[in-house]
Amino acid sequence: MVEKYGTVGDFNETQNEYLDLIYELMQGRMRGKKPIAYIHTYGCQQNVADGERIKGMLSKSGFEFEDEPDNADFILFNTCAVREHAEDRVFGNVGALKNLKRKYPNTLIALCGCMMEQKHIADRMYKSFPYVGLVFGTHALHQFPELMYRALTTGKRVYVRDNDDDLVHEGIPIKRDGNFKGWLPIMYGCNNFCTYCIVPHVRGRERSREKDIIISEAKEMIDSGYKDITLLGQNVNSYGKNLKNSVSFAELLSEIDSIDGDYWLRFMTSHPKDCTRELIDAIANSKHVSKHLHLPFQSGSSRILKLMNRHYDREKYLEIVNYAKSKIPDVSLTSDVIVGFPGETYEDFKETLSLIREVEFTSLFTFIYSPRVGTPAAEMDDPIPASEKSKWFKELLDVQEEIAAKRCSSMVGTTQRVLIESEKGKDGILNARTSGNIVVETKALKELIGTFQNVEVTSAGRWILKGKVI
Ligand code: SAH
Ligand code: SF4
Ligand code: F3S
Repeated sequence: MVEKYGTVGDFNETQNEYLDLIYELMQGRMRGKKPIAYIHTYGCQQNVADGERIKGMLSKSGFEFEDEPDNADFILFNTCAVREHAEDRVFGNVGALKNLKRKYPNTLIALCGCMMEQKHIADRMYKSFPYVGLVFGTHALHQFPELMYRALTTGKRVYVRDNDDDLVHEGIPIKRDGNFKGWLPIMYGCNNFCTYCIVPHVRGRERSREKDIIISEAKEMIDSGYKDITLLGQNVNSYGKNLKNSVSFAELLSEIDSIDGDYWLRFMTSHPKDCTRELIDAIANSKHVSKHLHLPFQSGSSRILKLMNRHYDREKYLEIVNYAKSKIPDVSLTSDVIVGFPGETYEDFKETLSLIREVEFTSLFTFIYSPRVGTPAAEMDDPIPASEKSKWFKELLDVQEEIAAKRCSSMVGTTQRVLIESEKGKDGILNARTSGNIVVETKALKELIGTFQNVEVTSAGRWILKGKVI
């Protein structure tokens, strides 16, 4: 019997053999043409990282990828359950495939990801969409080759329920979406059970990857030209707690930082309750860690934070922020915030507004509270009508816009090191990003995409900067 948490299970020979079997099967069916897959990922970077593993496995089976489902032999929706809106989109998009499946009956349509870890939702989707041939959740990712092979060969629908495997599975092939910006998961799951949040219910308990495996993956990425690497976890600050040789996140960060090369290192998400001074010092003393801290506060009211089960209050949050500001010059702070948590009053909401004014975040991810079945908050009294919450939400956006615009205009005239990321349109304008995660538009040759450049900031919009490459 294997130990349950923090144990490494590998992506074993059997799964690799299934990848070979799928390859042969598809070669036979396609008569030499390459099979096409369409993978649509919703939700957070953790899901994106899972999507890259699915693409890695499919790639080994000879698949190529397209951005539209029309020509695909395999269609997969990698779903997110964090808010109702995310779920509604999946229902709509899967419903829209009915005609495509009628036209091309051999196309295999599959659903995976966080929504599929909620039985009531997975059951509903399985019943509502009889043309979906494969359903599995986040815990069955490492069995994907075997499941896909079964769905392709038996003519029966494959539906994985009740899989609660909480091991860390190493060795799954990866096909990363970008070639200079990449995600590096350092842990999976979450133990925090914030009362509004579905993530611990769909991703299972917290478990960390072994430090040496992370370091060698980071080295590999840096050696192959990655310039912007984000370490991923729902609460990176509790990294390493379940490992045999326990390691703190600050230690991991410093060790990766000591790898030679020209790159930026980021991480998300950092939970304020475990954000230590040691971590802030590690960022301040690092060579590669970007001077950016994503530190979700969720609410500015200590009363609401308690109801959210966040384990910090407004004062503790501000104390960490002030320490970060004192140690990391020009630190760029970003955050997540929820408006309209059950029982939140306008007085509580005003404390959220005053907190964002005090901290002066670079940008915010703002959400209206969405009840999630099975979470404690969904059972709490929620007397404020949706129309009122929308008004508060708009007020929040207006205040943040003012703060962001002020921050941006204060940067005019400065020189910023940026990573050039993509073409904005066809007129030679490129999108770049500062270490603090602010977008800078600049006119430059597209050959510079994927390189660091120095840019003089010439003007500022509300959220973005404009500048010229020096
Ligand atoms: N682990 C991260 C957050 C992951 S979910 C953290 O603790 O910060 C990303 C964001 O979605 C959360 O920070 C929260 O702001 C938002 N969120 C989560 N559940 C939500 C819900 N039920 N309604 C509205 N927003 C929610
Ligand atoms: Fe959700 Fe809280 Fe865990 Fe973040 S820390 S994933 S908000 S339960
Ligand atoms: Fe969504 Fe799952 Fe991430 S619920 S936010 S995709 S962990």
